Formats: sequence, structure tokens, C-alpha cells
Amino acid sequence: MFRAPILAAARSARVRALVENAPLSRKVVQRFVAGADTDDAVRAGRRLIDQGLRVSFDHLGEDTLDAGRAESTVKAYLALLNRLAEEDLAGEAEVSVKLTAVGLDLGTPLGLDNARRIADAAQGAGTTITVDMEDHTRTDATLAGVAELRRDFPATGAVLQAYLRRTEQDCRALATAGSRVRLCKGAYAEPASVAFQSRAEVDASYTRCLGVLMAGPGYPMVATHDPALIALTGRLAAEGGRSADSFEYQLLFGVRPVEQRRLAAAGAAVRVYVPYGGQWYGYLMRRLAERPANVTFFLRALASRG
Ligand code: FDA
Repeated sequence: MFRAPILAAARSARVRALVENAPLSRKVVQRFVAGADTDDAVRAGRRLIDQGLRVSFDHLGEDTLDAGRAESTVKAYLALLNRLAEEDLAGEAEVSVKLTAVGLDLGTPLGLDNARRIADAAQGAGTTITVDMEDHTRTDATLAGVAELRRDFPATGAVLQAYLRRTEQDCRALATAGSRVRLCKGAYAEPASVAFQSRAEVDASYTRCLGVLMAGPGYPMVATHDPALIALTGRLAAEGGRSADSFEYQLLFGVRPVEQRRLAAAGAAVRVYVPYGGQWYGYLMRRLAERPANVTFFLRALASRG
């Protein structure tokens, strides 16, 4: 298994400095990240929307212990939402927010107040936010944050990770009318005490969780590139008589783009998660950890950097 060692190495300050400063990183980053600023994000988003896809923008950053950085993240989201409204893209584009990027670790009131400012701007622009899920030490605080945000902004999306043992229960609790729930496998290195470790167990958990969400009255957001799970979603929708507008597929920018367009051309709602901004390190390392081929791509770029 590549995943755990890569995620462990990613926590080293030396590895971080090496990756962030290597000239090769730019090329690899470009595959998974839409660009550095609002203009880049809007340009990439428009291109996807023109292809019949929807978008969720993520201003990169996480684990902020600096109130100034949290504030500049909020401002970046507000500027983006303003542009989405001005350019009439808000119908097809929402934003994804990590609570630790807007100050969760500086104290819940600050993180939540900042998320509320973004949700308020999103509502003003005519769209929504989804609160990304981070490592398991943040699950309770993040779900509590979503519940709080939903009091004023009921369309706030939640994210659940199938690799956590608790998630089937969380799916049952969140599969309520109008509830937007993104189901993903989970991207962090988690201990066996809280998370399934083998691919087979994670996939089986995803299958159970998907069954709960697709059978419920909420709005499932099926975030996976896994062909078997994408096919299963289609079968569950057909069996349950779900209309194409009552759930959506979600995939990451730069991952299986042909599949993204294929699903949309077949009439499905498909949203692409589009990260942008300068704080790409954690995001990139999770993408590399997901797939050995991505590490090969990274090493090939290293070999050809001259
Ligand atoms: P899996 O990893 O089993 O991959 C299945 C197949 O998809 C692979 O065989 C390969 O073909 C392709 N593939 C997958 N990842 C690839 C990659 N990086 N590069 C190239 N090909 C790849 N996680 C989290 O913890 N919190 C969150 O909030 C989110 N949010 C989120 C939003 C969206 C829209 C997506 C799609 C994913 C997330 N994730 C996430 C990440 C998620 O938890 C998971 O780590 C990845 O999606 C990879 O898992 P898959 O379900 O794609 O399956």
C-alpha cells in the first residue's frame, strides 16, 4: 500500500520544503489545481460549465493557526462568489470550504462565524456551500458546524467519509429531506480504531452508505472516481426511480475528465471539484497518495525537469 507511507512522509517539514520548492512541482500541480487566483478559477470553472458540468470551487488551505490567513481565505471566497454572481455562473457553481482553513482550530466561534460569512455570501449570490470533511479528530466539530450552519442556510452540504466506521450511522442521521450529503471514501491516514483499512472494507462501507443515501429523501452527492461505485449509483437510481436531478456525481479536477463528460452527456448531473490558490501542498499529497500512477507521473516530471 502506497497511501499510508506517502501521507506519513507528507507530514515531514523536510519533504514539504522539497516538494514546495522543486521546479517540477508546478507541472504536477497544474494537473490537479486550476491556478493561483480567482481569475484562474473562474476561467477553469467556465470551461467545465461550457461542457455541461457543474463546479464546486475550493480555495486551497487547511489547518490554519493564523487569524490573518483565515481572514484572507474568507475574503478569497467572498471575491469568488461575487465574480460567480457577476458572471452569471452561480447557478452551476458552488464552493467547498474546510473549517480549519477559516479558523476552526483558532476557536469554534471564529471558524464557524467565518464559514457563516461565506454561506451568507453564497446565498446572496444564489448558490450554496459544502463543508469539506477533514481528519477524524475534526469529524464531530465539522458535523456540529454543518448542523449550526443549516439553521440559517439549510442547503449547506455535509461530507461523510466511507472509510470511517461511524459513517453508516452518520448517513442514516443525515439522510433527511433536502439534506445535501457528499459521500467520499476519505483521503486522510486514519487509525484502525476509527477507520476501515483495506480497500475491500472501504468499498463495502461505501456501498452500504450509498444504499442509505440513495434510498433516503435527501440529495446524495456521490463523490468517487471508482467505476464500480459509479455504475452502482446508476443502478440504485434506476431501481429507486430517482430522477437525474435528485442526486449528482462529483469528481476531482484533472481526474477522469473523459468520465466526467461521459456521465454528463448521458444526462447525469456531474460536479467537478475545482481547487485553486497557492496552498496546494496538502491537497497534492493526498492526490499522489491515492494512486501509485500519480507518483510515477511526479517522478517522471522530476527526471525531466532539466
Ligand atoms: P479510489 O481511490 O479507489 O479510485 C478509484 C479509481 O479512480 C482509481 O483506480 C483511478 O482510476 C481513479 N482515481 C482515483 N483517485 C485518483 C487520483 N488522485 N488521480 C488519478 N486517478 C484517480 N476526501 C475527504 O477526506 N474529505 C473531503 O471533503 C473530500 N471531498 C471530495 C470531493 C470530491 C468531489 C471527490 C471526488 C473526492 C473528495 N475526497 C474527499 C477524496 C476522496 O475521499 C478520495 O480520497 C478520492 O476521491 C479517491 O477515492 P475514489 O472514490 O475516487 O476511489
